[in-house]
Amino acid sequence: MKPAFKITLVLLLLIGYCHACGLGGSKNDYQPPFADGALIYRQACADCHEGAHNIAPNLRNQGLTSEKVQRLVRRGKGKMPRFPNLTGDSLNAVGDFVAELK
Ligand code: HEC
Repeated sequence: MKPAFKITLVLLLLIGYCHACGLGGSKNDYQPPFADGALIYRQACADCHEGAHNIAPNLRNQGLTSEKVQRLVRRGKGKMPRFPNLTGDSLNAVGDFVAELK
């Protein structure tokens, strides 16, 4: 094995390990079908944030800004997982939707 190849292999293993150990809490691999905030909220958020499970704070009328919601979704917090597949338009859409929830 060439040294450069060995180094690459070790680096790949390290990256894989860090990914698996889930730096910064748990993650949720939900894939948005398209950038529809209401749909994403219903599929990925409502289970915890309202309804039967009810393990998370209600997001209605909280005066949340879209930016704050998006930050939570990117980073996760406490028992809330982060959502690495919610990015770009999908992340904007769900952020805007939750900020407007009444
Ligand atoms: C597995 C359950 C779970 C799921 C799924 C989940 N959340 Fe959460 N969320 C939580 C919990 C628990 C908290 C409270 C975290 C804390 O303060 O420790 C929270 C907190 C939040 C907050 C902060 C509320 C505030 O007033 O500060 C926002 C915003 C939020 N979640 C948005 C979302 C969005 C948007 C989604 C969907 C993409 C989502 N959450 C999915 C469990 C969840």
